[in-house]
Amino acid sequence: MNTIVYFYSHKGSNRFLANKIANDLQCDIEEIFPRLNAHILMLMGINFGNKKLKKKVADYDRIILCGPIWMGQLIVPLRNFIKKYRSSIRQLVFVSCCGSKFEQKDEKFGHNLVFNLVRELLKEKCAHCEAFPKTLVLPPELKDDPGAFMKTTLNEENFKDEIQDIYDRFITKIKDTI
Ligand SMILES: Cc1cc2nc3c(=O)[nH]c(=O)nc-3n(C[C@H](O)[C@H](O)[C@H](O)COP(=O)(O)O)c2cc1C
Repeated sequence: MNTIVYFYSHKGSNRFLANKIANDLQCDIEEIFPRLNAHILMLMGINFGNKKLKKKVADYDRIILCGPIWMGQLIVPLRNFIKKYRSSIRQLVFVSCCGSKFEQKDEKFGHNLVFNLVRELLKEKCAHCEAFPKTLVLPPELKDDPGAFMKTTLNEENFKDEIQDIYDRFITKIKDTI
């Protein structure tokens, strides 16, 4: 299946994850740039749209969209992407390296609320959603420290054990549907 990873990342974790996925799938990858990359304004929902993409969404059978969650929201650059290309997208897999743990997924800032919105926007075109909570890479003594995940970024050193297992299962699942 002809696949591309589009990603947005502010601090680098989703960039790391997106590159890892594209590398393992040996597929194309492109970064999404908002016209105004101002974190605070985007958090407030102020939206000037995204810059034009270099690669055409319609050329791919499957889109893997990767990016963070802020304040329980489908963030502006990702929302813009989905709304603009909804009709050209054939299949989308949504992936997020986020802060919310699996046990928090249905809480106010949990990743499942964003996943449900993506499913609602794309209906049957949304094939799968996968979360990679950053707490998975924290040492046990910091896992319940609410500020610790904010200071951590995924990297080659900390991407191991539980997060690696979840990732390997995810990649197998994606490869199985090729
Ligand atoms: C202002 C702000 C708000 C956030 N809100 C949430 C949230 O509501 N739910 C969540 O799961 N993670 C939340 N996070 C955590 C980010 O999703 C997480 O740090 C992510 O890995 C950042 O991705 P990046 O490094 O690619 O920018 C928030 C982070 C920031 C900076």
